[in-house]
Amino acid sequence: MDNHSADMVELGPHTHVLVTGGAGFVGSALVDLLLARDCNVTIIDDLSNGSLGNLPASDPRLTIHTFRIGDPAFNAAVGHAVGQADAVFHLASPIGVQLAHKERFAVTSGILESGCAIVEACRLHRRPLLYTSSSEVYGSGRDRPITEADPVMTDLRPRWGYAAAKAAVEHLVAGLFFDFGIPTWIVRPFNMAGPRQSPATGLVLPVFVSAALKGEPLVVHDDGEQRRAFLHVADAAEGLLLVMRSRSLRGRPVNLGGSEALQIGNLAKMVVEAAKTKAPIVRKPSNAIFGERFAVTYDRVPDTGLLTKTTGWRPLRSTKQIITDCIEHMRTERVMA
Ligand SMILES: NC(=O)c1ccc[n+]([C@@H]2O[C@H](COP(=O)([O-])OP(=O)(O)OC[C@H]3O[C@@H](n4cnc5c(N)ncnc54)[C@H](O)[C@@H]3O)[C@@H](O)[C@H]2O)c1
Repeated sequence: MDNHSADMVELGPHTHVLVTGGAGFVGSALVDLLLARDCNVTIIDDLSNGSLGNLPASDPRLTIHTFRIGDPAFNAAVGHAVGQADAVFHLASPIGVQLAHKERFAVTSGILESGCAIVEACRLHRRPLLYTSSSEVYGSGRDRPITEADPVMTDLRPRWGYAAAKAAVEHLVAGLFFDFGIPTWIVRPFNMAGPRQSPATGLVLPVFVSAALKGEPLVVHDDGEQRRAFLHVADAAEGLLLVMRSRSLRGRPVNLGGSEALQIGNLAKMVVEAAKTKAPIVRKPSNAIFGERFAVTYDRVPDTGLLTKTTGWRPLRSTKQIITDCIEHMRTERVMA
């Protein structure tokens, strides 16, 4: 099927979809969903944080490329893969607050270089592009749900290099739509969690689950009252597909996140209970972990009204379900290891 100039991106049988970062946590869930719709899928992933074990590698509808997007040596290969695709989901990115804080240069340049390579290929081949930005662009958070109208706020503390780079690529992606008429979507995910998320990146839920399963302390930062809303990765992948089907969401940011706001201290208690462990919960100041220049984030809860209103999307899985699935996945991984 060639739907390059189609009014609507059809994500059905024989549509060819490119997913960058497809061996990662969210990317692989998206690949599962696209294959279930009988799409042909190509992924590009440098395996810096992803794993081929996340993918059904023997599926004949799946093509896997393992190189770094943004490395000039692979620009032609990126262009070719984009040219072959009917639509592109650009998820490849370094992730995690820990990495953003510690390796600002590598994280910022990684997002910009890969973003520029994909945007340029989509501009040349006129391919629809959905870009996963991040709720980090909203900065330190608010004491109420955050809407897309809230300002993008960062300063020069190391953590925000990730956010500033994501925001810069958002402009390129918006420019593709407004300046060149190419359909694009900008999604700002909040905390996503579930099976296949690795504790290595320091993301709170897999770190808690990993500690609980080992009977080690669950370290809650600061007073533990900071609130987040977790979204199951399967609900997130459904959301990404629905966004790309929406005309009215083109060229503008849309939040994607969970609906149950929860204090991190309470999340730790839920994990301990679900894992049936005696692991202790301890508190530590985030500055003692990351240093004085760390930018602390208080409440960061999304208002997802725009997404629900325009697409009918709603999260179907509870926080409890996310925790159970996370525990189940990590237990199985350990048994298999
Ligand atoms: N997980 C979350 O809670 C969350 C929140 C906000 C935004 N996001 C965004 O969602 C997207 C997916 O995140 P995720 O949680 O699945 O992360 P992930 O690390 O599991 O997936 C990203 C994948 O991209 C690959 N990658 C990184 N840089 C690359 C490059 N230059 N070339 C090729 N491959 C590269 C990694 O190996 C990894 O497999 C990312 O863009 C991330 O910034 C995630």
